[in-house]
Amino acid sequence: MVQQREKIIESKTPYSSANRRMEYDHFKVSPVSGALGAEIEGVDISSSLSDGVVADIRQALLDHLVIFFRDQDLSPEAQIAFSKQFGELDEHDFVKGMKGYPELIRLVREADEAGRNFGGVWHSDVTHQESPALGSVLYGVDVPPYGGDTLFANQYMAYEALSSGMKEMLDGMIAIHSAIGPFGPQGRSKVYWRNMDVETNEKALEEVEHPVVRTHPETGYKGLFVNGTFTLRFKGMTEEESEPLLKFLFRHSSQEPLTCRFRWKKGSVAFWDNRSVMHYALNDYGGYRREMRRSTIAGDRPF
Ligand SMILES: [Fe+2]
Repeated sequence: MVQQREKIIESKTPYSSANRRMEYDHFKVSPVSGALGAEIEGVDISSSLSDGVVADIRQALLDHLVIFFRDQDLSPEAQIAFSKQFGELDEHDFVKGMKGYPELIRLVREADEAGRNFGGVWHSDVTHQESPALGSVLYGVDVPPYGGDTLFANQYMAYEALSSGMKEMLDGMIAIHSAIGPFGPQGRSKVYWRNMDVETNEKALEEVEHPVVRTHPETGYKGLFVNGTFTLRFKGMTEEESEPLLKFLFRHSSQEPLTCRFRWKKGSVAFWDNRSVMHYALNDYGGYRREMRRSTIAGDRPF
């Protein structure tokens, strides 16, 4: 906690993606877009990593918001061990963990599946929880020859790009989130994702409050924190009243200049900071199978 406060004091300047660090002691980074994202070369994340390497990876995550590794060979055990170095792991409320590995979920779409894919809306993960994830580590187990890319959007930049009047108004607002859309009694999981182990339960109806603008607990930067999967309305307003402003914010926060796009290969890994980015899983690989494995690192309560 003390460490986090010190970091917040350090970052008083407005956020700019141009200020991201490019030099690290333990590996080379190559940014993938002007807004966010960087590939890290020269680290085998399945091996045991020194404290220095782990600290550099954590710093690269804070600097670039989403980081990518290629050509990894990650057993379930190795994925858990890697992820645990960044925090405790979370078990998903609705997607059952893998047999023997409750901290890992399989995101599977078979070649003959049609309709909505899992994650195919701009979102951050599990914001139906009081303390949504710090981040997620996604590993490409079986990837289509083309298609199935993941897009990421920088939410610090989304906030900075708003007018001062809009910033001021949103700064004081609270939004209501729940998992009813994907996982409620009439949710998308009832119709799609038939090859995943999804189980709905009463938790899908619970509503939680989050600030519309959250301050990152480690960098101190402000970012937009509403998303199309879980955000239902603003506190004190109806859904109908909230809709026009939410619609604007969903579009605003995923504009092309705020994004990067990651093309998967077998063995690729994406590790995103769920507190400062949204992501979107493209549904453009009909006829091909895709299987990913996710671990989710527990986060803290947004403020
Ligand atoms: Fe997601």
